[in-house]
Amino acid sequence: MPELSRRHMVLGAAGLVGLGVVASRPSDRSGARDPYFLSLQNALTAAGIATPTLVIDRARLNANIDTLMSHLPDGMGYRIVAKSLPSLDLIAHIGARSGTDRLMTFNQPMLNTLSAMMPAADQLMGKPLPVAAAKRYFQELAPAQAQAADNVQWLIDTPARARQYAELAGAVGRTFRVNVEIDVGLHRGGFAPGPDLQSTLEFIKESKVLTFTGFMGYEPHLPGLPTAFGWRERAKNAAWSLYRECLSSAATVFGADKMGGLTRNAAGSPTYRYYQDTEIANEISAGSCLVKPTHFDTDLLEPHLPASFIATPVIKSFDQTRIPGLEFTTGLQRLWNPNTARTVFIYGGHWLADPVDPPGLAFNATFGRSSNQEMLNGGHELDISPDEFVFFRPQQSEAVFLQFGDIAVYDDGAIVDRWPVFEASA
Ligand SMILES: Cc1ncc(COP(=O)(O)O)c(C=O)c1O
Repeated sequence: MPELSRRHMVLGAAGLVGLGVVASRPSDRSGARDPYFLSLQNALTAAGIATPTLVIDRARLNANIDTLMSHLPDGMGYRIVAKSLPSLDLIAHIGARSGTDRLMTFNQPMLNTLSAMMPAADQLMGKPLPVAAAKRYFQELAPAQAQAADNVQWLIDTPARARQYAELAGAVGRTFRVNVEIDVGLHRGGFAPGPDLQSTLEFIKESKVLTFTGFMGYEPHLPGLPTAFGWRERAKNAAWSLYRECLSSAATVFGADKMGGLTRNAAGSPTYRYYQDTEIANEISAGSCLVKPTHFDTDLLEPHLPASFIATPVIKSFDQTRIPGLEFTTGLQRLWNPNTARTVFIYGGHWLADPVDPPGLAFNATFGRSSNQEMLNGGHELDISPDEFVFFRPQQSEAVFLQFGDIAVYDDGAIVDRWPVFEASA
């Protein structure tokens, strides 16, 4: 091969590689701020808020409640998932707007708080508590709140737990309402149809201190399954046929005439829309879809609006990104990735949350995360000064909502209320 043409080929190949490199160079994701978040920022500033704060947009929350209720078929009850909406005022607001007093509760401290503050609410446990935690509930229940305990549906997942709860009921001198957890495909425990279920239902029937209230079958695995080849549809039908089998076991044990008053609980935010009639479930539980953290950005929840945000002030703002020990890479970094053109350090950080405004902000993997002053980088159009607010969307509401003190309630351009959250509990 002649020398010249070989050189051309090498240059050509290098050119192609160069083009590829240029094509894979990140583009600048920064841009103008969203007027929605600028209004939120004005409201926070006007309210004198200057610490990391969980904000709920009340108009969007209301729209989400109405969306949820409008999707429920006739006769379908709604149960509020307390752990996903961990504030008494928030739960009360949702209860009033949706017209429900049913709660799903997940731990002993919250159970005590809700028994004290909402004694008339029907509380279905969302997970089975160790019997010692149930015992603690009774120890902490003030005599004046004793009636609230009659509105609890304790969750039973094994024959052993049924026996333990019967013993505790005898010891505290009460009758316990018990709901039976069934495994409809999630495989997180609970009964499958079969002899254990049958004998446990018979045990409950024979017991003088237990009353059967129904079933709870949760199926959040469904939306994660592929739709190809009818995979998801088959799993959904399998879940429902398991539920049907459990119901027919109960009808055999308690009699068909006793089935009418049962709680047939199913679903959560990701799946509540699957229930278009009350043949299987007669109530659905949901919480997260009312505030819509990012993990709930799914097709089925598309009509729900993001209604909760973490707002935090910028502490420091710089027009470059400098990494300790790697200062010499600053120029190169910026050349390669325009999204490192600017840096802010925010008040707090390291939450289970994703930055949403100003646009294009990202954590810096090399600098690392911080709960004190977290670094965020942005492109050339990032325009934010110290004391202005960066906004995040929580990835989940459970646990995250408890990290900021009172929720700031935003409505019509102003912070109109503060809703205290539950004490951190597990
Ligand atoms: C038993 C049960 N039901 C329902 C839910 C749904 O809660 P959310 O609507 O907040 O996802 C959960 C969430 O963990 C759950 O464990």
